Amino acid sequence: MSVTVTETTAAAVEFAKTNGKQFVEELKELLRIPSVSTAPEHRDDVRRAAQFCADELTRIGMEHVELIETATVDRPGGHALVYAEYLQATGKPTVLCYGHYDVQPAEPLDEWKSPPFEPTERDGNIYARGAVDDKGQMWMHVKAIEALMVAGHGVLPVNLRVILEGEEEVGGEGIAKFVREHGARLKADVALVSDTEMFAPDLPTLCVGLRGMIYTEIEARGARTDLHSGMYGGAAPNPFVALAQVIAKLKDEDGKILIPGFYDKVAAPTVAELQAWKALPFDEEEYREAEIGSSALTGEPGFSALERTWARPTLDVHGMPGGFVGSGAKTVIPAKAVAKVSLRLVPDMTPAESFAQYKSFVESICPKGIQLEVRLIHSGDPIVVSTDNEYVRAATESMREVFGKETVFVRGGGSIPIVGDFVRELKTPTVMMGFGLPDDNLHAPNEKFHLANFHRGIESIIRFLAKVGAA
Ligand code: BES
Ligand code: MN
Ligand code: MN
Repeated sequence: MSVTVTETTAAAVEFAKTNGKQFVEELKELLRIPSVSTAPEHRDDVRRAAQFCADELTRIGMEHVELIETATVDRPGGHALVYAEYLQATGKPTVLCYGHYDVQPAEPLDEWKSPPFEPTERDGNIYARGAVDDKGQMWMHVKAIEALMVAGHGVLPVNLRVILEGEEEVGGEGIAKFVREHGARLKADVALVSDTEMFAPDLPTLCVGLRGMIYTEIEARGARTDLHSGMYGGAAPNPFVALAQVIAKLKDEDGKILIPGFYDKVAAPTVAELQAWKALPFDEEEYREAEIGSSALTGEPGFSALERTWARPTLDVHGMPGGFVGSGAKTVIPAKAVAKVSLRLVPDMTPAESFAQYKSFVESICPKGIQLEVRLIHSGDPIVVSTDNEYVRAATESMREVFGKETVFVRGGGSIPIVGDFVRELKTPTVMMGFGLPDDNLHAPNEKFHLANFHRGIESIIRFLAKVGAA
């Protein structure tokens, strides 16, 4: 008789405990690779990170491990997907494990207490760019699979496909195209995504909704060339002032977006959801002080901070390249300036319609003497996933066994563009079981991953995969 699933699970958990330190050392190696997907100068590093993941998936016994190219003539910057599978568990369900191996830029570098690509352990955390978003969380999947593989002597209790992307932080176009064209290769009963946060320390959390987004650039052009601001100031249009005027008309002081029709499709959360959010351990004043660190919170009156960040659209400006930004002073009227502006979307808004509304409104408020070009850089759909299925139950049971607590369901204000495609294109129910913490500094200096959560994440994933296989 073969060993029972529970014995395999226990052996896998044991293996993960014994080898926890080694797992962290391997993760550090991956974190040393600066796989910044948006930076062309890091193209080889992004590739090295993909290869590193592929090599490890091969080593732990996954099959048909492959780097899938996404670069094409019209998208030469596309980064590879990493694919692996194990489909020997005849008659068992298939889990699609998703993660991303690319990271955000590390700047501003002088704000880091230890260098972003020299992973450093301090106070039970590992600090590095990508520690929690998403290399550390992706590594939990790989290590959970390894533990089950060792415990089962090369036999897994469930079928698996693994898909890792290197473009999540720049919109995920490559994987979206792959899903459209080769969706069958990712066929699974459930997708598991670990790229979100826990609501509070020690509180097991499933993320059940993400905002979508449109990321745009507005380019303003005035004079034919840069001009002396003394000779021409008062007569020549200034593209920065023009952009400031445009931006100021996009959102009022209360945080309401002024684009006509923008809110038409916004769906209110259900009464049950709103009630559940009210019961979460959350204090707006503490959030303002501890997490944001500003003198006030902003946003639409009549909505709680959780509603505003999870269930309402918003607009932000990320940077305005152009003109003179060196130290000292230069008196110039730049010929052109750019504003990088993104809008977060919520169900049932669509990127195409929202962008069209935004573009025509921006064009309609173009100041005199200025030409505006509104460009869409990338976009992704908002999504709310179902919580009423056996996979969500397997996830909450797994986390109960590890954390000794009931799981809370939250939404996330961030975006993971491919999740919408898993659900809508592939019709694959998706479980977002993430182990980041609110103070993990995603996208910011001193990003970290709490090591206890790395280990608890691995154990939760081991249990989840075993439970799905046993169902
Ligand atoms: N992992 C985040 C998204 C996230 C963070 C979801 C916290 C929920 C809670 C992801 O890597 C991310 O940062 N996505 C980008 C997507 C964009 C560039 C298309 C984002 O949200 O800005
Ligand atoms: Mn991420
Ligand atoms: Mn991110």
